[in-house]
Amino acid sequence: MYKKTAIAATIAATTTLMLIVGGCAATGTDKPAAAAASKPAASSGKVDYTKMTPEALAEYLIFEANGFKLDQATQEGTTGRERITQDELQKACSALRDQPIDGDTAVKVSTIARNSMKYPEGGIKLGDWRKGGDLAWSGFGYRFGHNNDDHSKGDPGGNCYNCHQLATDRTGGTIGPSLTGYGRVRGNSEAMLKYTYEMIYNPHAYFPCTRMPRMGASGYLRQDQIADIMAYLFDPASPVNKLPADPDSPVK
Ligand code: HEC
Repeated sequence: MYKKTAIAATIAATTTLMLIVGGCAATGTDKPAAAAASKPAASSGKVDYTKMTPEALAEYLIFEANGFKLDQATQEGTTGRERITQDELQKACSALRDQPIDGDTAVKVSTIARNSMKYPEGGIKLGDWRKGGDLAWSGFGYRFGHNNDDHSKGDPGGNCYNCHQLATDRTGGTIGPSLTGYGRVRGNSEAMLKYTYEMIYNPHAYFPCTRMPRMGASGYLRQDQIADIMAYLFDPASPVNKLPADPDSPVK
C-alpha cells in the first residue's frame, strides 16, 4: 500500500508553482489570478471543495493541485502554464461569458488583434498546397495535461478541418463557414491574400472574440506553414478549388 502522505507531500511541494503575476502591475484588475495568488492556504492539501466557487475550484485544480503538467513545452515555445494564462484579448472575450459582444469590447479586441499583426518578409506569398493540405488536416499539437506528448512525431498542424469544410473529398467541421472553392470563388487579388493571411494570423481583427484560434499571433503556425495553408486555399490545382463531380454533367 502507498502512503497517502506521499501524495500530500507532492501537493505541498507545488506551492512553488504559484502563479507568477510579477512584472505586470497594470494587470491589477486580473481577478482570477489575484484570487489564486491570495489563497496560498489552498496548497496545503486540505481544501474544502464544497466552499469553493466553480472558478476557484478550477483554478485550484489546474494551477495548484499538480493535476496538470503545466511546465510542459508547447509548440509556440512557451509552457502549458503560459498557454492557459489568459492574455488581454482572451480576458476581454471571456468576460462576455457567451453574451453577444458589445461595441466597446469589439473595438478593444479588434484593436489588440490589429496591433499584433506581423507580416512575412518580402510580402505575403503562397507556398506548397500539398504541404498546406496536410497541415490543414492535421490536428497534432503539443498538448499538455496529465501525460507528456511525444514531440518528436512531427510538426503541429493547423487543425482547419476540425472547424471548416475545405476540399470536398473529405469531411470537415461546421463550427466555421465552409471554405470550399475559396480561391476559385474569391480570386487571388492582393486584398484577398492580405485578408486571408490576417484571418489566419489573428482572426479577431475581423471577428472580435471569434472561436477561431490566432494561428500566427499565438505562435501555433510558422510563416512558411501559413504560406503553405494559403496555397491550399488559393492554388487552382488544390483540391479545395476542384469542383465536385456533377453527376448530371454531360462532360465526364
Ligand atoms: C476552432 C474552430 C476553428 C479553427 C480550428 C479554424 N477556424 Fe477558421 N473560422 C472559424 C470561425 C468560427 C470562423 C468565422 C468567423 C466567426 O464568425 O467567428 C472562421 C473564419 C475563417 C475564415 C474567413 C471566412 C470567410 O468567409 O471570409 C478563413 C479564411 C478561415 N477561417 C481559415 C481557417 C484556416 C486556414 C484554419 C486552419 C489554419 C482555420 N480557419 C481554423 C473557426 C475556426
